Amino acid sequence: MMRIEKAKRIEQIPPYLFAEIDKKKEEMRERGMDIIDLGIGDPDLPTPRPIIERVKIAVEDPKNHRYPSYEGMIEFRRAAAQWFERRFGVTLDPGTEVLALIGSKEGIAHIPLAFVNPGDYVLVPSPGYPVYRVATLFAGGLPYFLPLRKENGFLPNLSEIPEDVAKKAKLLFINYPNNPTSAIADRPFFERVIAFAHHHQIIVCHDAAYSEVAFDGYRPISFLEVEGAKEIGVEFHSLSKTFNMTGWRIGFAVGCPQVLSVLGRVKTNVDSGVFQAVQEAGTVALHHFKTPIPEIIQTYERRRDVMVKGLREIGLEVDQPRATFYLWIRIPRGYTSAQFATLLLEQVGVVTTPGNGFGEAGEGYIRMALTVDEGRLKEAIERLKRIKF
Ligand SMILES: Cc1ncc(COP(=O)(O)O)c(C=O)c1O
Repeated sequence: MMRIEKAKRIEQIPPYLFAEIDKKKEEMRERGMDIIDLGIGDPDLPTPRPIIERVKIAVEDPKNHRYPSYEGMIEFRRAAAQWFERRFGVTLDPGTEVLALIGSKEGIAHIPLAFVNPGDYVLVPSPGYPVYRVATLFAGGLPYFLPLRKENGFLPNLSEIPEDVAKKAKLLFINYPNNPTSAIADRPFFERVIAFAHHHQIIVCHDAAYSEVAFDGYRPISFLEVEGAKEIGVEFHSLSKTFNMTGWRIGFAVGCPQVLSVLGRVKTNVDSGVFQAVQEAGTVALHHFKTPIPEIIQTYERRRDVMVKGLREIGLEVDQPRATFYLWIRIPRGYTSAQFATLLLEQVGVVTTPGNGFGEAGEGYIRMALTVDEGRLKEAIERLKRIKF
């Protein structure tokens, strides 16, 4: 028998912290337990009609059956630039300052390959979207974790980063509105990031996947609205959450043309771009809708209100999010995140994500995703009331 040996880069990926929960979830399902899954941040609502109608037509067109260009169709990039101008008041050159992505995850996962040499640091928020850390490791880089603490509004404190780390850092990942904490960033924070990045010559990668999931009239700003951002950074955008298109795999990166061109070099060698029919549908989405789309936002807002009220009644500590469809919930004393998530699953069949799965600094929290309907959320609250903790 041949011995199948994994590469070191695979071996070094931190253990999959949700494996235990996944196994339990399956066991309970098999036993006939009705599971309410608040674990996965994947919208349950359908993609809006006009987008679906467009892809049906676009699929029929033989010119779309061929390899797309890796950087995206100019029509799609133009639509992204025009949306950006309308939404954020930032002018972008669709030829050099917009790059189509197979979902923002693809760009985030590839950007360290473009800039990180083995041994270089990458500044990664903790807790954070796990791809920043893993993509850094795949490129041979060293993630340096920036703790996001409640007392600091879940923003990293850049002045805590040691000088020698900052000197050897190539990339800084930030993400607002934030997964998993649902925190938001203001302009002064972005100004501090830009000053820091200029000073240390670090490329900023701002993940804005949730820019269009915001409540109570709040409209997140783009990092690129801030003076000096385009010289040192890129921003990742996604159609996934904005238009309920997670399965379609389409997003884009905008910003510094030199950075996008090197990311594009990686892409030319590993993928062949986004299916053009999907790009045509994405173009319609960006032209047709004023974002955030009110119906989508109202649905999450109602769910948020039900859940935050219910959780507080139970005695759990949770901030009312102004953006994202996540709730970041402090766990009661005497439990670890994993123990508490396991308790909720075993006792009442409610799946949540333990905070430490997003990085060590996420310990002490669990995350709930508001991606099930209001009735089920109410049911989840009723069930949680039955637990003594
Ligand atoms: C913070 C963050 N960034 C990026 C993504 C990736 O989104 P997509 O690849 O669908 O654009 C996600 C998905 O959950 C996310 O939570």
